[in-house]
Amino acid sequence: MKWNSLTTIALFAPNNVLALLRFPCAQLVIDRLDPLVNPGVSPSPHLHQILGGNSFNTSMQPGEHDLPGESTCTSCQFSEDFSNYWTATLYFKSKNGTYKRVPQLPNAGFDGVNGGMTVYYMQDGLYNFNQTSKVTAFKPGFRMYIGDVNARTREEVERYRQLTFTCLDTIATRDPQTLDFPTKPCAAGIMTAVRFPTCWDGVNLDSPNHMDHLSYPESGTFESGGPCPDTHPVHVPQLFYEVVWNTSMFNNPADWPADGSQPFVWSFGDQTGYANHGDYLFGWKDDALQRAMDSPCYINCPVIKNQTTAEMNACTVNRRVIEEIDGWVTELPGGHTANYIKPRFEYAPKNE
Ligand SMILES: *[C@@H]1O[C@H](CO)[C@@H](O)[C@H](O)[C@H]1NC(C)=O
Ligand SMILES: *[C@@H]1O[C@H](CO)[C@@H](O)[C@H](O)[C@H]1NC(C)=O
Ligand SMILES: *[C@@H]1O[C@H](CO)[C@@H](O)[C@H](O)[C@H]1NC(C)=O
Ligand SMILES: *[C@@H]1O[C@H](CO)[C@@H](O)[C@H](O)[C@H]1NC(C)=O
Ligand SMILES: *[C@@H]1O[C@H](CO)[C@@H](O)[C@H](O)[C@H]1NC(C)=O
Repeated sequence: MKWNSLTTIALFAPNNVLALLRFPCAQLVIDRLDPLVNPGVSPSPHLHQILGGNSFNTSMQPGEHDLPGESTCTSCQFSEDFSNYWTATLYFKSKNGTYKRVPQLPNAGFDGVNGGMTVYYMQDGLYNFNQTSKVTAFKPGFRMYIGDVNARTREEVERYRQLTFTCLDTIATRDPQTLDFPTKPCAAGIMTAVRFPTCWDGVNLDSPNHMDHLSYPESGTFESGGPCPDTHPVHVPQLFYEVVWNTSMFNNPADWPADGSQPFVWSFGDQTGYANHGDYLFGWKDDALQRAMDSPCYINCPVIKNQTTAEMNACTVNRRVIEEIDGWVTELPGGHTANYIKPRFEYAPKNE
């Protein structure tokens, strides 16, 4: 399924549909901060690309920090969305051992947006054009994380659903998706996707690992309409990030490792790709997200305010941690180096 088909369907979406939001957020800042996993810690262990409301700060604890109240702009298209969204950044490792940060691209249909990512909030699976399941919007102070920064095997990443990579032939390519980095140069870049679980315990805004207050459906999948378990009975929107990395300056096969491995590495050193992960701090103003999810919004959403690409791009904050993040650096920000770990379960020679 291509993006073109998705927009075509949007034009013909029936009147009884509820909401599927798909919108761009421009880059707010690239910085070594992580107010979810490392609140108050500056610098945090690894570099992130951060989007959304400009109240983003080193510490944003629930009850102490009011995202919509303290933000004066957002880098997201819907201007009542002061949430913060972030992922790690990507680097290319050259043959001489130095690293260069991989720039980002706007997604299909969002030309002119400065990097960032595409954010979805969905009631049903992406290609279910009915979108009729009732969902409860997140509450003020809600936050979550998905993935495992330490995952280096397929078994470890398979505990999560759909933390994926797509090798883009064109900006509209969506399949196949893999759980590890593409093994060949990708003409139009690499898309990484992060999909969060959709069942909430209804009580906790957070949990110690920032994941246990959420669950995947107890049977089936979100896409198949699987029911939420009794422990996590509240059906929340599926939050889904797509990030497009412009790899074109790194696509010359001569610059790739001679041993057949691939040269891209997450900003914390993972060269397998299995540690793909994402972070979210909910920050929609008042009931704007619930209003959108209860309305016949299919990508366009007249019940919530939007802003121009120029306004999105203009919303930025200054980097706090001043260090070299571009240029050919000898180590990744925070002192990480690529730590490719040979897959542990794929090959076990007896005489080694
Ligand atoms: C970040 O937090 C510090 C300390 O609480 C505060 O002084 C500063 O104004 C905050 N910055 C923003 C952009 O909210
Ligand atoms: C390392 O390789 C990159 C990419 O080819 C090149 O731009 C850079 O100048 C090299 N650095 C050193 C120290 O050789
Ligand atoms: C959408 O709804 C129609 C009519 O209720 C149904 O026939 C169709 O299977 C539904 N499509 C999906 C993808 O669920
Ligand atoms: C992607 O990167 C290449 C090489 O730096 C650059 O020429 C091109 O303009 C970039 N593409 C977009 C759409 O920004
Ligand atoms: C907001 O979205 C509508 C379509 O829903 C579009 O016509 C309008 O131009 C957008 N406004 C801005 C400021 O981008």
